[in-house]
Order: sequence, then C-alpha cells, then structure tokens
Amino acid sequence: MKMRIDKLLTSMGLATRTEAAKAARQGLIRLNGKVISKADEKIDPEIDSVEYLGKKVEYKKYVYIMMNKPSGVVSSTDGKDGDTVISLLPDELQRCGLFPCGRLDKDTVGLLIVTNDGSTAHYLLSPKRHVSKIYHLKTLCPVTQNDIDILQSGVKLDHGDIARPAKVEVINENELNITIVEGMYHQIKRMLEAVNNKVIFLERIEFGTIPLDRSLERGQWRYLTKEETDILLNQTR
Ligand code: URA
Repeated sequence: MKMRIDKLLTSMGLATRTEAAKAARQGLIRLNGKVISKADEKIDPEIDSVEYLGKKVEYKKYVYIMMNKPSGVVSSTDGKDGDTVISLLPDELQRCGLFPCGRLDKDTVGLLIVTNDGSTAHYLLSPKRHVSKIYHLKTLCPVTQNDIDILQSGVKLDHGDIARPAKVEVINENELNITIVEGMYHQIKRMLEAVNNKVIFLERIEFGTIPLDRSLERGQWRYLTKEETDILLNQTR
C-alpha cells in the first residue's frame, strides 16, 4: 500500500512531519538512492528503499514498546487525570498513535506494552484469550494458607464478579507473585480485599510470557526485541 514518506517516518516514530519536511528540503532523505526534495512523495514501503539522515529505514508497520511504568502516571492517552504513560515517550513517538495495551492503576508499576497495533492489542486484551499476567505484590497483613487456597480456587469479588483460579507463588507471608488470565478492573487489589487484606505495592512483572526487562528503570522504555514481538504476535494466531 502506498504511503507518503513523511507518514512513514512519523508512524515509525523517526520524525515529526515538520522534521521530515525540513530534512527533505536539506537533501537528507533519499528514495531508492536518489535525494528527494519533498517529504510528501508517495512510496510503497514494502518495495521502495528510503534513507533518512543517512540511515536506511527498516519499515515496520507497527511500533511495540516495553515500558517500566512508574507510579503516579495514568495508563491512558488522555491526560485529564494527570500525566500519561505516553507523555514519557519522546515527542516523535507521542505522535504516532501509540496507546497502552491494557491498563495499570496509577499507583501500579512495572511492565506495560505500548503499541499502535490496535487489532493485536484488542486480541491480547480480550477476556476470551486468557493471556497470562504475573503481578508481584506486597500486602498489609500476612497472607494465610487458607487465603492462598481461596485465591487458587477462584475468589468471589465485590460486585459479584468471580476471579478465575489464580496461580499463587509465596515469597514470604506479606509478599506474593500472582498469575491471572483476566484483566478485571482493579482485579488483584479486589482479590486481596476478598480475603480481608490490602495490597500496598503492586508491580506487573510479566505479560503474555514476556518478562519485565529489569535493566529498565521506572519510567524507562525500549522497543520490544524481534523475539518478544514474535511472542506477542504468536499469541494472536
Ligand atoms: N490489578 C489491580 O488491582 N491493579 C492493576 O493495576 C493491575 C491489576
């Protein structure tokens, strides 16, 4: 499918439209080896070769990012409730239609996938797909064996929701890893409330078998590797 060169560069987060136009005027964009003067030229990104600032553009239809979400930012694209995870990305990436794949509460930290691939995100978030997520959490009160049995056999939440059986790994009496395959609103916090406890720290450490890259500080991000992108996309097949 044909697209404009500036659209190619913005959709991949390489430049803003203004930057693309300026680079074209300065002779810094090549199309099939020849310098072009206008960034609105139409190309077929699967066939044509584009060089931007001296580097070949490896066309990718969608962007997939891993972020280590810090506390205090909202997982949405709309900043009316405070800073968003998108605002932590560089300007050019903020303009290529990215959104978080699922939500973490404002005070939850850890692994968030950010993409502009709407159909994959929709698939991964569908309650029918049972994509697994692992959360590491700390609790206010000690968790008993009876609580663990309840969480593992499926617990009744407030508002009548039932959480499917979760996998619980005990780190110590106030610290657990819990694997769930749903994504109900405040699910982990509500699961712990259902056993008369309270979550005081919550971190997502794995999404769809992709672990959080511990070398990312809170608030930092990186592109998913080819292997991680394949893992993500394979779950939709
Ligand atoms: N469960 C919660 O309670 N909060 C989150 O942010 C994610 C899962």
